[in-house]
Amino acid sequence: MSTAPRFSLRDVVCRYDGKAAVHGVTMDIDAAGVTAFIGPSGCGKSTILRCLNRMNDVVHGFSLSGDVRLDGEDIYLRTTDPVQVRRRVGMVFQRSNPFPSSVFDNVAYGLRLHGSPSRADEELQVEEALRAAALWDEVKDRLESSATMLSGGQQQRLCIARALAVKPEVLLFDEPASALDPVSTQRVEELVAELGKRLTVVIVTHNLQQASRVADRTAFFLLGRLVEYAPTVDLFTRPREVETERYVSGRFG
Ligand SMILES: Nc1ncnc2c1ncn2[C@@H]1O[C@H](COP(=O)(O)OP(=O)(O)OP(=O)(O)O)[C@@H](O)[C@H]1O
Ligand SMILES: [Mg+2]
Repeated sequence: MSTAPRFSLRDVVCRYDGKAAVHGVTMDIDAAGVTAFIGPSGCGKSTILRCLNRMNDVVHGFSLSGDVRLDGEDIYLRTTDPVQVRRRVGMVFQRSNPFPSSVFDNVAYGLRLHGSPSRADEELQVEEALRAAALWDEVKDRLESSATMLSGGQQQRLCIARALAVKPEVLLFDEPASALDPVSTQRVEELVAELGKRLTVVIVTHNLQQASRVADRTAFFLLGRLVEYAPTVDLFTRPREVETERYVSGRFG
C-alpha cells in the first residue's frame, strides 16, 4: 500500500478581505484513518478544513496562497474544476442541512448531479449509502417521507449518506456532532471511526474526548498557526509544546 499522503499543504495562507486568518500552514494528511483538528474558537480550523475541498471559494473576500495538493495534484490550478474536487472530497457540516425533499431524493441528489443513473442503479446506490451511514434500518420503510421529519441525529446521518453516495475518497466533518444529543453524538462518532477505515476522514471538533476517541492523528491550531501535529495519544499524553499542554489540560480555550 502506498504511504503517499492524501493531502499536502505547503505554506498555506488564507485571507478574508486581505486580512490573514491562517498564517502559513504546512502539513501532510495521511490517506488512512482519521485526522482531527482542534483548537480554540477562531483559530482557523474550519478555514483550513474548507481549503481541502475548495469550499472557501464561495466565501466572498477569501483568498489563498501556498500549495494544497490532493494525491499529489494541485487543486487550486486554474484548470481544476472545484466541483470535481468536491466530488472526491465530501463535506458534512455542524448543522445538518437536508433538502426539503424526500429521504431518497436527498441521497440521490449527488448521484443525479454527477450523472444520470437509471432508477434501479439509483436505488442500489441510495441503499448502499444509507447502510454505510448506519441509517438504512431506520428509514427503509419511509424513503419517500420528507427528510425534515427525521430526528436531528438521523438528519445528520442522512447528510453523511448524501455525502457518501457519490463515493468520495475523503470526507470532511466540521463539528458534526456539536448540535446533537449524547446518544446521537455517539452514533456519529462511531460512524466517523468506521468510515476512517475505508476513507480519508478529517474532523474538526471542540470536544477533546471526541478527538481522542476517533482520531489517529490530531493537529492543534492556535491563532491561525499549526502548533503541534502528532499521533493522538502522543498529543494528549505527552505534548511537545507548552501551548498544546495548556490546551489539552483545559487551561485555556
Ligand atoms: N467569512 C468570513 N469572513 C471574514 N472572516 C472570517 C470568515 N470566516 C472566518 N473568518 C475569520 O477567520 C478566522 C478563523 O475562523 P474559522 O472559522 O476558520 O475558525 P474556527 O477555528 O473554525 O472557529 P470555531 O471553533 O469558532 O468554528 C477568525 O478570525 C474568523 O473571524
Ligand atoms: Mg469552525
